[in-house]
Amino acid sequence: MPESFLKKALRDFHPYVPGEQPPDGEGWVKLNTNESPLPPSPRVLEAIRDAANDELRLYPSPTAAPARHAIAAYHHVQPEQVALGNGGDELIEMSFRAFAGAGDRVAYPTPTYPLLEPLCRIHEAVSAPHATGHEGVWAQDFVDDPAPLKFIVNPNSPTGTWAGSVAVEKVIEASTGVVVVDEAYVDFAPMSCVGLIPRHQNMLVLRTLSKSYALAGMRIGYALGNPELIAALEAVKDSYNLDRIAIAAAVAAIEDDAHHRKIVEHVVSEREWLGDRLREQDFEVGPSAANFLFVKPPAGRRGAAVADALRERRILVRRYDLDPIAGWLRITIGTRDQHDRLLEALKEM
Ligand SMILES: Cc1ncc(COP(=O)(O)O)c(C=O)c1O
Repeated sequence: MPESFLKKALRDFHPYVPGEQPPDGEGWVKLNTNESPLPPSPRVLEAIRDAANDELRLYPSPTAAPARHAIAAYHHVQPEQVALGNGGDELIEMSFRAFAGAGDRVAYPTPTYPLLEPLCRIHEAVSAPHATGHEGVWAQDFVDDPAPLKFIVNPNSPTGTWAGSVAVEKVIEASTGVVVVDEAYVDFAPMSCVGLIPRHQNMLVLRTLSKSYALAGMRIGYALGNPELIAALEAVKDSYNLDRIAIAAAVAAIEDDAHHRKIVEHVVSEREWLGDRLREQDFEVGPSAANFLFVKPPAGRRGAAVADALRERRILVRRYDLDPIAGWLRITIGTRDQHDRLLEALKEM
């Protein structure tokens, strides 16, 4: 599209660039987009097959009701406290639609999920990034920011750092607007902030089935919060944002907690193992509470060069080229075989 057709607010726009998705079946070791190394539950695959039937001629439930009920039961909340999204990303976008008007501030600690900045541009909101201090401590000016919408990614991406509920609650208490706590990676962390919801009217928690349920390809996320905030999200969403197959998959995934736990346990134990091996190769490895490691190659090896050399060997990791994380790499936790290939390639270089 010629740039002149773009609305004025999007001149010089740099869209969010998702991690590389090479064609399936080419044998890539994909450690760049934080997908699950293990497959989805067989019960999910069965539910998907069952849902592929004649009822597809009918629109799905606008509120994804079966999934909404299953998620509410899982978290011991009311269905009115759950909103479904086409991936967590859509819930982030719905939060902008509902809570951030043109010219409003949207505050978040940086570095963090790079989707937030382009969404500010799209919604003509004022991006208010706040540099995070040493070891992931949020700046006081972030806590005190009067923005009507704030985001906290916890555990954070790409750094993997995790903040306990005391620090999160301080931000919520100091905030006059809505605070969205993005818990995309929380299943790999010590604990969630969902327990804070009954105490706070201005808090939403976002979750995704893309990571710890191995369903990135299905696009299912959900928000939890008080019914008023959830109704606000529902009011601005697309009418039928989850299709019938996604709804069926979501119910089956939430109900197969044993499979979900298996994925989490694999990732957490492989995270420790891979971290130790990378340290043995003199990488700096940050503390991670997520399904990835944030690492810096040893002195004398540039992160970008390492990522490029890995790519030549069909191994994908995410690289960062801008300060303050220039030279760092984010490596998704994979299978032991994938880790062996990665470590072998790093040794060869
Ligand atoms: C911090 C964060 N939030 C939300 C998401 C959204 O995930 P999805 O849209 O796949 O549910 C991601 C995906 O990588 C993420 O890193």
